Amino acid sequence: MVKSAVRIATLDQLLDALDGLFVDGSDWTRREQEDPWVRIFSQDNHPLNSNLPDANLVSWFRQGFLPEGGARMALDLGCGLGRNTRWLARQGYQATGIDLSAYAINQARGRSSGGAVTFREGDVLREHISGGPFDVVYDSGCFHHLPPHRRLSYLQTLENVLKPGGLFGICTFAWGQMGSEEDDVTLLRQGHLEGGIAYTMDDLRQVFSSLEFIEGDVLQIESGQTEEVFHMPFLHAALFRRHQ
Ligand SMILES: C[S@@+](CC[C@H](N)C(=O)[O-])C[C@H]1O[C@@H](n2cnc3c(N)ncnc32)[C@H](O)[C@@H]1O
Repeated sequence: MVKSAVRIATLDQLLDALDGLFVDGSDWTRREQEDPWVRIFSQDNHPLNSNLPDANLVSWFRQGFLPEGGARMALDLGCGLGRNTRWLARQGYQATGIDLSAYAINQARGRSSGGAVTFREGDVLREHISGGPFDVVYDSGCFHHLPPHRRLSYLQTLENVLKPGGLFGICTFAWGQMGSEEDDVTLLRQGHLEGGIAYTMDDLRQVFSSLEFIEGDVLQIESGQTEEVFHMPFLHAALFRRHQ
């Protein structure tokens, strides 16, 4: 009898094989028949239906960590309905939001913004992102949904899209507040992501150790901040810079 099987010989084949461990729809970071994000984004009162920017993004801008937009380009990975992409555009960036969910991208395009904003449907783990490299790359809430092995794809994407000297901001579930605290091997073995992974600030510093750490904190309103912002006690954010 002739048997046919994929014998893993490349990193992509290994990553695809590991994707296959997550069979019950618990991996919300790849294209499946059903888009899991529709049921979240279609709820009018869901927090992610907000138009407000993340508190940390506004704070980084106010503190001068994020430069004025000017002709600079910003990329929002897993932009959802585009609240942070639109805010970046309003600060003068040529802002691009990219998301796996066709539903989210259609909704994002329908929302008024102001400034130069583009929304694209795409898979940031498996597809080339054109138009870069970008001065600022931001991710709010996409990375913590990745299965452990897909961090490798994510780091490769970051390497491809972030300019030398560019800034990378990330907002994730905070360890002890929200997200699974199982170790990576357990998550892979059980083939279930439990709704997302909890990260400590040290985890983020370790995963993105090729970048210079600038600062990290929980999402909170700064004293004296008047702009309305998005903040949740179970989220924290970190800012990094790519070496020149
Ligand atoms: C928790 S939502 C956050 C949405 C948005 N950043 C916000 O904070 O309002 C995570 C988003 O990541 C997107 N996403 C997940 N995996 C992705 C992938 N492989 N490529 C692009 N987008 C992805 C989802 O479609 C979803 O819109």
